[in-house]
Amino acid sequence: MALCCDDLEQISERLRCRTVAASNASDSLMEDAFSGLLSAPRSLPPKYFYDALGSILFDRICDTPEYYLTRTEDALLAKSAEAVIRNTRPTYIVELGSGTARKTRHLLTACASQEAPIVYAPLDVCREVLLESSEALIRDYRWLHITALVGDYHSDLPRLPAMLGGRLFVFLGSTIGNLTETEALAFLRELRSEMRTSDRLLLGIDRVKDAAVLHAAYNDCAGLTAEFNRNLLRVLNRELAADFKLDAYQHHACYNPIAKRIEMYLIAKAPQRVTIAAFDRSFQMDEGEAIQTEISRKFTYRAIERLLFMSELRIEQHFEADNGYFSLILARPHTVV
Ligand code: SAH
Ligand code: AVI
Repeated sequence: MALCCDDLEQISERLRCRTVAASNASDSLMEDAFSGLLSAPRSLPPKYFYDALGSILFDRICDTPEYYLTRTEDALLAKSAEAVIRNTRPTYIVELGSGTARKTRHLLTACASQEAPIVYAPLDVCREVLLESSEALIRDYRWLHITALVGDYHSDLPRLPAMLGGRLFVFLGSTIGNLTETEALAFLRELRSEMRTSDRLLLGIDRVKDAAVLHAAYNDCAGLTAEFNRNLLRVLNRELAADFKLDAYQHHACYNPIAKRIEMYLIAKAPQRVTIAAFDRSFQMDEGEAIQTEISRKFTYRAIERLLFMSELRIEQHFEADNGYFSLILARPHTVV
């Protein structure tokens, strides 16, 4: 039985779960959906993809032959994890947007030979995926202690629990690419301001590459990305009592070479009136009208350097996939005087 004290649950001897979220998730969804859907162009923040089903769908996308990102980053981590752990010697591994944490296992395995104890602190908006992945890790790593954190990495970094000792912050999967340039800068600056001199950041970033490879990765033949995209409407129907008809929306993902990003949309196949009972409003979707659901930015090495420089972070080590498809960056805080 889980013992519960305020926002802290002791789930088992080595696993506890803390809610660090400042705001109620359904209040933020109300605000974001109201401002995103009722303004032009219509858009929704990608964090709402990830309810329990969305997290499963994302995990299945990772195994599609077209979605090279997970495989490439996994292979890169398999090669570089020992060096990362040897060079950082963390007491805490704090992973932001951890999901199933499947690639993180390389880092944990590399920690096994470390004498000092390690605490893994994954943070995710999706409590279900957080607990499921944490329980699996506890089973597989008998020495590991986990403090799972339910929260939003945009707003809740100042509420991380106190951690005495060096922290390795980990942000994998090129999730940084789902943020606009302004959002990415604000996020990294906030993270930087929380970092102590001994802390490090391990950042996984997808690189600019052939448009056909990118297009295929976001338009898999099995239709999982389309299903993942439409799941956003399922979340709105359930959480806000909306009446989106899922099969009336077409998945559309295309590479914008000027902005160097995949842009993902849901496009209405026919005109329709949508009612959102939670805010007592309805609106018209015209045939062909789009809701932007995600961007996935791709980076040149110069753009990565610039982003980190502007966030007062400096690159300590760069691990690059042999085909140049993906980068893992180990960065340290740097103070500009
Ligand atoms: N890091 C994993 C998962 C990437 S999917 C990997 O590399 O495979 C993105 C993850 O970030 C999901 O688990 C999602 O629930 C989480 N996420 C998305 N937006 C978030 C936010 N604003 N705050 C915290 N977690 C978020
Ligand atoms: C989590 N994130 C980095 C994924 C990406 O590639 O942008 C989410 C995703 N969207 C469609 N497929 C995968």
